[in-house]
Amino acid sequence: MADLSQVVLTEVDKQGEIDTVQLANSIKEDHQKIVGAVKSLQSLGDIVKVEQYSTKHWQLTDEGKDVAANGSYEARVYNAVPSEGITQAEIMKNVPNAKIGFSKAMQAGWISMDKSCEGGPKVFRKSESIKDTVQECMLKFAANDSKSVPENQKSDFKKRKLITEVKEVGYKVSKGANFTLTVSKAEVDLTPEMIQSGSWKTKTFKEYNFDALGVPPPAGHLHPLLKVRAQYRQIFLEMGFTEMPTQNFVESCFWNFDSLFQPQQHPARDAHDTFFMSEPRTAHEFPMDYLYHVKEIHSNGGHGSQGYKMDWKIEEAKKNILRTHTTANTARMLYQLAQQKEFKPVKYFSIDRVFRNENVDDTHLAEFHQIEGSVADFGLTLGDLMGIIREFFKKLGITKLRFKPAYNPYTEPSMEVFSYHEGLKKWVEIGNSGIFRPEMLLPMGLPENVSVIAWGLSLERPTMIKYKIDDIRTLIGPKVNLQMVYDNPICLLDN
Ligand code: PHE
Repeated sequence: MADLSQVVLTEVDKQGEIDTVQLANSIKEDHQKIVGAVKSLQSLGDIVKVEQYSTKHWQLTDEGKDVAANGSYEARVYNAVPSEGITQAEIMKNVPNAKIGFSKAMQAGWISMDKSCEGGPKVFRKSESIKDTVQECMLKFAANDSKSVPENQKSDFKKRKLITEVKEVGYKVSKGANFTLTVSKAEVDLTPEMIQSGSWKTKTFKEYNFDALGVPPPAGHLHPLLKVRAQYRQIFLEMGFTEMPTQNFVESCFWNFDSLFQPQQHPARDAHDTFFMSEPRTAHEFPMDYLYHVKEIHSNGGHGSQGYKMDWKIEEAKKNILRTHTTANTARMLYQLAQQKEFKPVKYFSIDRVFRNENVDDTHLAEFHQIEGSVADFGLTLGDLMGIIREFFKKLGITKLRFKPAYNPYTEPSMEVFSYHEGLKKWVEIGNSGIFRPEMLLPMGLPENVSVIAWGLSLERPTMIKYKIDDIRTLIGPKVNLQMVYDNPICLLDN
């Protein structure tokens, strides 16, 4: 490129003004490369004056080139006719593009045809000699001399697809105010050496291009679920909640079900609903005192409850599973809380992964994320639960809420939470909630007048709504398009 710049400068110096198209032709260089050299000279300041112009000119098509080299089709037909004549069939067979050539040659009166001959129509020469003006014109186009070809012929050739018109942008380059024959490439960086030697004073520096887009930094990208999770976490933190440790995907049935007063015969504890671990198959460390209380409340009841009046087996409680809800972690935390000397109110939350043995479809996966919150305090009521849920969803921008009685083994009362979906124009379920049962809390050792309210929802559902994703499999799992992850905007909940 530096060399080409030098060529341009030398030519401008010699000729006063040059035309990049002509220069490209005369030195047999790619026009775009010359344009590049001119542009880089332009960026150095007022060394050259550059003026853009555009021209249209004619160019031979491949067919046009063929005609220039071998003659028009009509001339080829004429030349294929011997003085004694020839059958039309033979002409058609041997001459390329004979059909066009034949009718043109007939039109021009170069040949004639006798249809009455034996063995099919025969063709004879009509003119003594011909002048192939089409080929002559093509040769003119090839020599860049299209001016002498009459306009009406040009449009005829264009129709015959022998020539096409191309638009070319060229530049007229002349001397600028700071014209010089010796340009040094503009410096991009100011180096310590330039400062030390003082050479920076005489150097030219490339100007900043503030319009340049820049190279995207090779950084990681947050998955949409992580972006939405960050927003939910922010809401919990604003409301004074503490995040629970939830980094154990493997959980024992004891914490996942038994501690939550879920009977051992409950269908959710079936392999159709839950993933059981084969290795390690069982868990071994349990707070044995507490385990005994759990066994007691299940089999014999207590604290005014009848229990399930069923044999409670430790073997069942020991089984390892992939946790089916983060409420298992809430149970662990509440148990720990009950072990404190003095009860202090707490607010806990978590957002983490849970696993269920589901048939996968566009709204179900075998693993998803749960958002879960709980508050433990003296004398909390259903009103507190509804109030805090309203507050929580208000921060998400969701204000139209309805509660519907529901059933969970570990909460009483239980309520499903519905919100009015403006897009779908109907009420959709967005969460589940309730007040933990005394059968769950009292065996842990929590004071009798302490209640715990809790609610849970999935992280995927609001994320799919937020990012307009209608198949959960394209949000998480092997079908995820990484470009979707890279291009996803940050999550701003509209409230
Ligand atoms: N664990 C419930 C679920 O998996 C959610 C929930 C949490 C319900 C806390 C009530 C209280 O759907």
